[in-house]
Parts: sequence; structure tokens; C-alpha cells
Amino acid sequence: CNFLKEKSREEILEILCNGLAREEYRGYDSAGLGVDGDKPREVLYFKEVGKVAGLRKKIASSSVDGTKSFVSQVSIAHTRWATHGPPSETNCHPVRSDHGSDFLVVHNGIVTNSGELRLVLQKRGYKFETETDTEAVAILTKYIWDTQPDKRITFTDLIKMVLKELEGSFAFVFKSIHFPNEVVTARRGSPLLIGVKTDKKLKADFVDVEAAGPEDLETTNSLLVPPTQAKVMRTQSRAFMSEDGLPQPIEFFIASDAAAIVEHTKRVLYLEDDDIAHVAEGQLHIHRLRGRGDEQQTAAQLASTRSIEILELEIAAIMKGKFDTFMQKEIYEQPESVVNTMRGRVNFDTNTITLGGLRSYLPIIRRGRRLVFIACGTSYHSCLATRAIFEELTEIPVSVELASDFLDRKTPIFRDDVCIFLSQSGETADTILALRYSMDRGALCVGVVNTVGSTLSRDTHCGVHINAGPEVGVASTKAYTSQYIALVMIALQLADDRISFTERRNQIIDGLHSLPALIKRTLEQDSALQTLASTILANSKSLLLMGRGYQHATCLEGALKIKEISYMHSEGILAGELKHGPLALIDENMPVIIVMTRDSLYPKVQSAFAQITARKAQPIVICNEDDDNVPAGAKAIRVPKTVDCLQGIINVIPLQLLSYYLAVQNGCDVDFPRNLAKSVTVE
Ligand code: G6P
Repeated sequence: CNFLKEKSREEILEILCNGLAREEYRGYDSAGLGVDGDKPREVLYFKEVGKVAGLRKKIASSSVDGTKSFVSQVSIAHTRWATHGPPSETNCHPVRSDHGSDFLVVHNGIVTNSGELRLVLQKRGYKFETETDTEAVAILTKYIWDTQPDKRITFTDLIKMVLKELEGSFAFVFKSIHFPNEVVTARRGSPLLIGVKTDKKLKADFVDVEAAGPEDLETTNSLLVPPTQAKVMRTQSRAFMSEDGLPQPIEFFIASDAAAIVEHTKRVLYLEDDDIAHVAEGQLHIHRLRGRGDEQQTAAQLASTRSIEILELEIAAIMKGKFDTFMQKEIYEQPESVVNTMRGRVNFDTNTITLGGLRSYLPIIRRGRRLVFIACGTSYHSCLATRAIFEELTEIPVSVELASDFLDRKTPIFRDDVCIFLSQSGETADTILALRYSMDRGALCVGVVNTVGSTLSRDTHCGVHINAGPEVGVASTKAYTSQYIALVMIALQLADDRISFTERRNQIIDGLHSLPALIKRTLEQDSALQTLASTILANSKSLLLMGRGYQHATCLEGALKIKEISYMHSEGILAGELKHGPLALIDENMPVIIVMTRDSLYPKVQSAFAQITARKAQPIVICNEDDDNVPAGAKAIRVPKTVDCLQGIINVIPLQLLSYYLAVQNGCDVDFPRNLAKSVTVE
């Protein structure tokens, strides 16, 4: 949205497409946008299935007049990852109401009662054109508008009435021909932020939250009761008055995450759940959807202001640089990203760890009766990978949970439990729901998150940012190794009051010190892995990865990488379970990778190696550089040796590279694998 700031339509389209391209890792089934037309009350749409590049082409080949300029305007755009209705041009957002441009909506999340709403609205004569849950929201807005006798309702109050009817999770942006140059945006469960760009100095570095009125406490379904006109509330938003008090040219950028807007402004404010923001006439107003005092609300939601923060994200950090794909770049960033995770936290002179975000909570964690790790996908694997070192150093029982299963089982959680939530994005819906569940039961909730300002990083009691930098490739790589290190650091810090562990702690801290150099050395295996992908594994349909102890998680993570991006069936197997089933899969045609680096379980893995070679398998072995026990004929990937509990960080790297080359060879879109999204903000 720009106010008193002239922009051509071409510039506006460019801003929207660039923003979408940066958000593409969130969804890439289709992309669309809506901008003001040449006549009043006219909206121009562009929608295209597939990537943003396709949308750009469509716009370029259209007859739209790019030179038309606007002094004030609001445009909306969206990149979709389908949940309701397959990817198609019709299902693409912005979604409109009843075949017209009265109300346009873009939506991230899932409206779980959209089916019921659809039925009610269809009965009232409204026509749906898409299969999306979002369309029920657009049409509901139109319905409530249509039932307003004098049309004097504000845009905000109208949307408040809509949101009261919805169940599920959402971040919405609404545009309407009835409210030109105004936009309303709201969130519940899905992330949303607003960037502010102006040359003038702002009067404050926060925006007031306008209290919810008594009508906001109502829970009645207004579809069944005729809606009443809500009270109009207006107060001045202090921040957006310049010091001289005059109207100022200003732009607002509303987005799911900062990557989309950082090239325009670094000043952002994050909306909380149940915030509803209205932008018009260069002013931003934030309201609450629910009344105060509701026990479900967090302190951040109840705060009376939303502060304007300065982003530290550099645009260069989210560009590909010299690499072909973001994933390749992120694999190669690991020697630096692990340093960033440790920076300012590990003192290699004194062998001490200081995690500022946990400091005052350490005594509570140490007294906890149980550590419960909760995460999804790769983040879950980082918990599995470090479980043993936590058990060893803290002597507290540890359980590791997949967030969805944790919720499905309604896992018993108590006040003296410590729940640790791992997430790269900090926005994974299942993990956030598990957080809310654990909070409600009084557990101490710790976040280990990459994305600063994300829901998890804000809503946990305390935590650690892994500082791996923005990760764009859907398949997580550098976040995994940084999560791993962050967890090891937490375990080390928890044990720093135990003299008996000093030697072990020192050994691990020394290991952390040499990790960046060892990762670099491991990356030198790049061409060997490329060859492996194009020779031995070129036409394989399936691949088994075996290991035990610390390396079980490595195998699970390697298999996940391979299936995610190369679409080859791949399974991580605990070598200790070999005889209980997987051995039946082994013959001369089944490709197997066995992780056999030296640790206390080495003899047992050697015996697994013998068992599979006896069944004619020709395993590829991941072993240490100096290992002469590997039979001469076996294909070996040799990696540097480090402390047992850190070896998984080294061992996963060849598997990341292998998955990468298998995907490239299969012609797959490495950064955007089919059907997957980077940030799964729906259950
Ligand atoms: C998705 C991504 C994975 C990621 C998982 C958990 O499935 O594709 O790469 O590991 O979500 O995401 P989180 O952001 O919570 O770590």
C-alpha cells in the first residue's frame, strides 16, 4: 500500500512479483495478484499455475498499461501451496467474492469450517467458483456487507464480523472496491508482519493496540442472527504521525515473512494472533479480535503496543550467489553457519558455554523431571541425534516426539516437564499447537528456532536462536547442523555444574572448535558423491541407509533428504533392528549405505556389514578417513573423525550432497520439491 507516494503500475507489479518470488519457498503451486484498474472500482487480476516466473511472463505478455500511476493504492498478491482444491488458475488467490471484485482475499492457513460456511452461503444464493476454503471467507464478507442496511460499517468492523465466524488458522489480507485504498489484515495461527517505509522520522517506535469493544467478546454466529452494525472505533496511531504532524508519504508492506519485504524496509512490526490491522490514509490501526483478560492470550498478545523492530536480515543473505540452487548454497554455508551458531556462546579459552536466552531458566530445567523434545521433519531428527548426549550429560529422562503424534496421543504433560520445541521456521503448525498444548499444562517451554520473530521464538518462555541465517531450500540442511549444535550446547550448559563431567565436556567443546574445518574437509567429497549418484545409484529405485547409536538419526535424515528432493524411495534403518525385518530386503540388487564411523558401537555395525555382505549386498560405506577395516572392494566415502556425539554433523554432509546430485540427475526442482513446502503452517 502506498499513500501520497506516486508509483506506476509497472513499479507496483514489480514489487509484488519480487515479493512473491522471495516467499516462493512457502508455496509454489500457483501465484496471483490483484491491482487497481484504470477505472474506479476496477481490479485487474493476474493468476498463473506454477512458479512466480510464469506469472511474470503472463503479465509481460498482457496489454496492461504499466505507465498508469497511482498516488495512493493497495494491491495484493499470493503464492499458493494447495490445501483445499488442486493447484489451478481458478483456485489461485486473490480469491474474489461471488464472481465480483467487491472483496478480494489472499489467505495463508486453513479455515476448517469452510464446508459449513459454504453450504449456508450457497443456500442464501451465493455462487462459488473455486474449491478453496478461502472463497467461503470472501463470500461471507460479501454476505455480511450485503446485509448492512446503510453500508456505514468500517472495513475493520466488517472483517471483525467475518473473522468471528471462522475456525482454523489464517493470515488474511482483504481488499475491496467498497473501501478503495484501504486494506485489512489479520492473523490467527499463521505469521504476518507489516513493514513500514517512510523518509520522515516517526513519532514513536510502536503502534498502539486499540482495545477490543464489548461486541468483540460475542461468540454468537452472526450467520444465523442478523448482524448488527458494530461500534466504530477510531484513534490515532501515534507512530505514523511524523514529528511535524503533517501527512507523510508512506508505504506499508504486509507479508508472511521478512524475506519478501526486506529490500524495501527494515522497519517491521509483527502482528500477534487475533490482531487485526487496518491501513488507510497513511495510518495503521491495530485492533484486537478478542476482549482482554482471556486466559488463552499470551502476554505479547495482551500488550498494549506492537513495537516497530529493525530487521537485521541482509538481502544478500537470501540470494543464491554463485550456486545453482539455494540448497547447494546452504550445504556449502555450513562451515560458516555452525560458527554463527556458536558465536558468542562457546568460549574456547575457558571451555564454557553461555546461552543468554536460557540463563535464568537453567535451574528450572535442571530440576525438570523430564525433557520432552517436540518437532517435525528434519528438526525432529536433530532431537533424535542429540538425545543420547542429553541423557548422558543431564541424567534426566528424555523423550523425543513428533509434534503431530504428540498431539494425537494427548501426551500427558505436567508442570515439572520441560518441553523443548525445535523448528527452523518457527511457524510449523503442528509444533505450535504442541507448544500451546504444553503451555496450557504448565510445562516450561523452550524454543530452539532459526527464524527470529517467528511465532515459536516469541511464544516460548525462553530459548536459543540457532543463527544459521535464512534457509530457503525446502530440504533443510544448514538448519539441521545448527540445530544439532545448539542442542549439544544446551546439554553442555546444563551439565556445567557437574564436576564429574568436566573431562567429557572439554572433549566435546574441543570437538566443536574443530568442526568448521572438518565440515570443509567433508565437502571435498563433493565430486565423489556426484559420481556415486550418476553411476552406482543412477537407476536405483530404492536406497537403504543403516547405522546405529548416534548414526541412526543420520540415516533417517539422509533418507528424508533423498526422498524429499530426488523422489527416490529411501529408508533409514536402525542397524540393531536389521534381523527383525529389513534383512529380508537385502540381495545383490538392493543398494545400501552403511554408516560405520568409529565409536563404541563400531563392532556392532561391522557385524551388520558382515550380515548384509553375506546376503550379496554391496554396501557403500561411510567410514573414517583412516579406517583400514573396510574391505578393499567396498565403495567407501571417507570422512574426518570427531567426538562420537558430534560425528553425525559430519556424516550427514555426504548424504546431503548425495541427495542433491540424485535430485539434479533426476531433473527434479531441488529447491522446490513437488508437493512439499518449506514452512508447513497448516495441520
Ligand atoms: C517441512 C519442511 C522440512 C522441515 C519440516 C519442519 O516439512 O519441508 O524441511 O524439516 O517442515 O519444519 P520446521 O520449520 O519446524 O523445522
